[in-house]
Amino acid sequence: TQITYVEASGQSTTVDLPDGWNLMQGAIANGVEGILGECGGSCACATCHCYVDEARLGDLPPASEAELDMLENVAAERRATSRLACQLKASPALAGLILNLPAIQE
Ligand code: FES
Repeated sequence: TQITYVEASGQSTTVDLPDGWNLMQGAIANGVEGILGECGGSCACATCHCYVDEARLGDLPPASEAELDMLENVAAERRATSRLACQLKASPALAGLILNLPAIQE
């Protein structure tokens, strides 16, 4: 699944992730610095905050209660397009998705 991460600096990284990988893992494995993933993907740190391309929001599964709770704790501005990258799994439905990353994660 092709995913593009765009850092706050404008630097863009496009990767091809195996299905089932979460998008935080995909960022860490590919040296994308705008995602920290401090809790290892257990929805407990909010340092994998990202902004999803608005036009693709409908392609994503809705956020769980746990994710919505953690989104209360993001360091950067929370927007309608805010998600936690560790809670999104690579799948064909997400192909070509662009994630914009906030300038701060903690
Ligand atoms: Fe900690 Fe996503 S990596 S909430």
